[in-house]
Amino acid sequence: TAVKPAHDFLSIDDMTDGQLEEVLDLAAYSKQRRALAPSVIQAVEGRTVAMVFEKQSLRTRVSFETAIRELGGHPLHLGKDSIAMGQREPIKDVASNLSRWCSLIVARLYWQRDIVELAEHATVPVVNALTEWEHPCQALADMQTIREVFGQDKVKITYVGDGNNVARSLAKLATRLGYPFTICGPENFRLEPIEGVRQTTNLEEGVAGAHVVYTDVWVSMGDEHEQEHRLKVFEPYQVNGRLMSMAEKDAIFLHCLPARRGFEVTADVIDGPQSRTDDQAENRLHAQKALLQKIMGL
Ligand code: CP
Ligand code: NVA
Repeated sequence: TAVKPAHDFLSIDDMTDGQLEEVLDLAAYSKQRRALAPSVIQAVEGRTVAMVFEKQSLRTRVSFETAIRELGGHPLHLGKDSIAMGQREPIKDVASNLSRWCSLIVARLYWQRDIVELAEHATVPVVNALTEWEHPCQALADMQTIREVFGQDKVKITYVGDGNNVARSLAKLATRLGYPFTICGPENFRLEPIEGVRQTTNLEEGVAGAHVVYTDVWVSMGDEHEQEHRLKVFEPYQVNGRLMSMAEKDAIFLHCLPARRGFEVTADVIDGPQSRTDDQAENRLHAQKALLQKIMGL
């Protein structure tokens, strides 16, 4: 069996603290350098990167396609209907065939167990572009954004709402890098215990002292069948002006997007002066370029 030349990124757990720091440093550097000289480093020059997407996407798809092009490669988008992975043929065969043509596989799948299976059978690295379990590329861009505002200060981050994929990756990354991290949401929608992560139902307590207030949708892709219940349970956890006033004065607001104004966040907050959501979206590009360079061994 072939041995992978580089490693997968299916979870924040797949990198050491040092590797995470290196990716973030390179992302910041590459953002500055891009302003002066676009596309100097050609990490995937002349190579094709398969992008297997079972779910919808704007930011992840466009930022990865742009990143791959700026690194000299060719992104190949394979939507759910075109390859029907797992239906038309087994994940295993998709993985082994893609590995013969492409240098890397970026995958947005419903289930983490499927991306693990894909990675097991691929002989090229696999990058998680979101599953129900994690969204590690989002967390890298979020951390880059936090550091652009607060430098190396280990500011308190409070995630409000659903203990979902976005919450899990950010919680892992933040605690690994030494940030105090609190999740504030309803009892039955918590994350499993993660070392260093405080979880509470109490808003005042959770948000007090926070320099970063983060939320995400209450109904993630795949959770639509629970919509009615979720909208009720999460209502007290809306990020609005009152909630932001419980945080530090210079706190920023983050959201991975897409957002539902009037549900998890009000328009005055997400469109207001504390919001950094466009920087987060931009940083997906820089963080992923850095990640691809590291994974491809440059
Ligand atoms: N934040 C994020 O992953 O957005 P998309 O679902 O549009 O890719
Ligand atoms: N938690 C959301 C994030 C979308 C980027 C979802 O999984 O749908």
